[in-house]
Amino acid sequence: MSTTLGTTSAVAINDVSVRFRSKRAETTAIEQVSLDVAPGEFVSIVGPSGCGKSTLLKLVSGLLRPSSGSVTLLGEQVRGPRHDIGFVFQRAALLEWRSARRNILLQAEMRGMSSAEAGRRADELIEMTGLTGFENALPHELSGGMQQRVALCRALLHQPRVLLMDEPFGALDALTREQMNVELHRVWRETGTTVLLVTHSIAESVYLANRVIVLTQRPALVKEVIDVELPGERDYSATMARPEFAAATARIRDLLGAVTGHD
Ligand SMILES: Nc1ncnc2c1ncn2[C@@H]1O[C@H](COP(=O)(O)OP(=O)(O)OP(=O)(O)O)[C@@H](O)[C@H]1O
Ligand SMILES: [Mg+2]
Repeated sequence: MSTTLGTTSAVAINDVSVRFRSKRAETTAIEQVSLDVAPGEFVSIVGPSGCGKSTLLKLVSGLLRPSSGSVTLLGEQVRGPRHDIGFVFQRAALLEWRSARRNILLQAEMRGMSSAEAGRRADELIEMTGLTGFENALPHELSGGMQQRVALCRALLHQPRVLLMDEPFGALDALTREQMNVELHRVWRETGTTVLLVTHSIAESVYLANRVIVLTQRPALVKEVIDVELPGERDYSATMARPEFAAATARIRDLLGAVTGHD
């Protein structure tokens, strides 16, 4: 199915399985997963370590081909690496010798974008993510959170309609992570980009998303899809205090079998 509510899905994963073969063994990472993501939707993906979450994002980006089934991005079947997406990884992966602004502009250089347009867009994103004043700082002069903001700006520079994020805030301390969640939520609302976020944080998955996809142990199957019934505008503390937030996080924790209450 590649349509949702009569519009073309931003991302459609149709009955996809992925098997990795080595000389010693065959691993099924993903088993018959289907998922439709509507344009402008924010979908979080959670599941046990090693269940196939990164594999799922690689399929959408075209870095990996499914063993069976198909993936459609913006109405077109994914057959190879796609350049019309943005990707943010767990580590910011910045070039140490380039300033924050020039790291963001790397995206434009790789794509041959006009430098005037790229410069304007970079300045807009720098402001949107609170990096003003740090444009000329080198990565080692930035905090971990700031480095991730640079990575986010770089991923958004070419205005991708789909943004894939794989544990983007996993290396940050809890408070910085909350702050990044608030900023990402605001950036998402301002840009209207479709986002697929892989995270190990249950709170983050719910705070940010319209829907949370809970995957099983490998091979990943969709265990349950949680609709997040929270208002569009989400003040952090007020959102945490809402009963809908508590209900969604409790349900996901149950599904994942987590017992500690921490995430
Ligand atoms: N290129 C590969 N070759 C062989 N096996 C692979 C390859 N990539 C992933 N796998 C296997 O597929 C399974 C899923 O891996 P994946 O990286 O998608 O998990 P994940 O859910 O992202 O885990 P984590 O939460 O720890 O990041 C794992 O068992 C992994 O060993
Ligand atoms: Mg992973």
